[in-house]
Amino acid sequence: MLRRARKTPLWRQTQGLNLGSDTPTLVLGIETTCDETAAAVVERQPDGSGRILSNIVRSQIDEHAPFGGVVPEIAARAHVDLLDGLIEHAMTEAGIGFAELDGVAAAAGPGLIGGVIVGLTTAKAIAMVHNTPLLAVNHLEAHALTPRLTVPLAFPYCLFLASGGHTQIVAVLGVGNYVRIGTTVDDAMGEAFDKVAKMLDLPYPGGPQVERAAATGDATRFAFPRPMLGRRDANFSLSGLKTAVRNEASRLIPLEPQDISDLCASFQAAVLESTADRIKVGLRLFHEQFGPPRALVAAGGVAANLAIRGALQDIAARAQTTLIVPPPSLCTDNGAMIAWAGAERLALGLVDKMEAAPRARWKLDETTQTPAKFANTRARH
Ligand code: KG4
Ligand code: ZN
Repeated sequence: MLRRARKTPLWRQTQGLNLGSDTPTLVLGIETTCDETAAAVVERQPDGSGRILSNIVRSQIDEHAPFGGVVPEIAARAHVDLLDGLIEHAMTEAGIGFAELDGVAAAAGPGLIGGVIVGLTTAKAIAMVHNTPLLAVNHLEAHALTPRLTVPLAFPYCLFLASGGHTQIVAVLGVGNYVRIGTTVDDAMGEAFDKVAKMLDLPYPGGPQVERAAATGDATRFAFPRPMLGRRDANFSLSGLKTAVRNEASRLIPLEPQDISDLCASFQAAVLESTADRIKVGLRLFHEQFGPPRALVAAGGVAANLAIRGALQDIAARAQTTLIVPPPSLCTDNGAMIAWAGAERLALGLVDKMEAAPRARWKLDETTQTPAKFANTRARH
């Protein structure tokens, strides 16, 4: 159990925002941007290493499953019902009281706005009552920085982030310094997996189900398109592939279990080939602009897919870099990633005002000077 004497509040020690902190910092992190309610406490050492003291995640899958996808109103209500209890649980498991916190971080976006408001408002209340700094974290930045919580990893590195809401290749150049190299021009990758699962009557969330069905399928039975293959930019497109699966599935009705497996295997093979090509281009663009990356990092729920991991491993090896994939519990949405991003920002004095606004949309590279070369990565995600 961790017990420490209360220090002078960090934001007072460092009013000039000149932190260079020489003591460990404790940060509470709150995640409510989608269908996971989560709270965690992490500790960041002055040498930049981190430790998770607690990481409590409550998935709302059961609440949303009957609808085949996340229902924003149900999610927001569930966050209200669950969050206080989860924070209490996270603090108890970490063995600390609120007075010992050096900061409170919440994902302030991008995400479903009802949920974001719940998490950010709760963080503000704790920050105000306990006189501790608020860290309004970008959810994507949290995914981007999480590998540094698990292994010593210096900047710059290349991030492939693929979840239900995002598909991006990002140059992570430093805390608060990101350049988007590629993104999807239509559906997110996890969204495509979920939609394919839905059209084949597989339960929500679809990604793991499609991967499971694909394991016993024939990936060569259907010649689905390989979107964006050979393009010079590093963007993704998934909606045409999804439509091709839908057309084939409608043609085959009624679907036999083997048809479903073959459709899943052929779909996944197309995603793999397209993704491998896009990341290869992304790494090349990264190299041209920023030199060799220290690593290729995969994050987001789709990074849990073993076939995709295998493909990334190959690409990283060929590009003479290392693949880093945080453990699955840190790839999918969680509170530790928010707490960690908060701790990294706090160490640089990047604290937020109480007026920090919740944001449904918030591009990761919004505050970074984007080189002209990547300025046109047009997309929704
Ligand atoms: O990062 P995440 O937990 O939540 C956000 O969307 O932010 O990612 C969830 C997404 C879902 O679309 C889910 O279907 C997908 O990740 N996913 C997978 C796998 N596991 C989760 N997609 C493909 N293969 C998987 N094994
Ligand atoms: Zn996420």
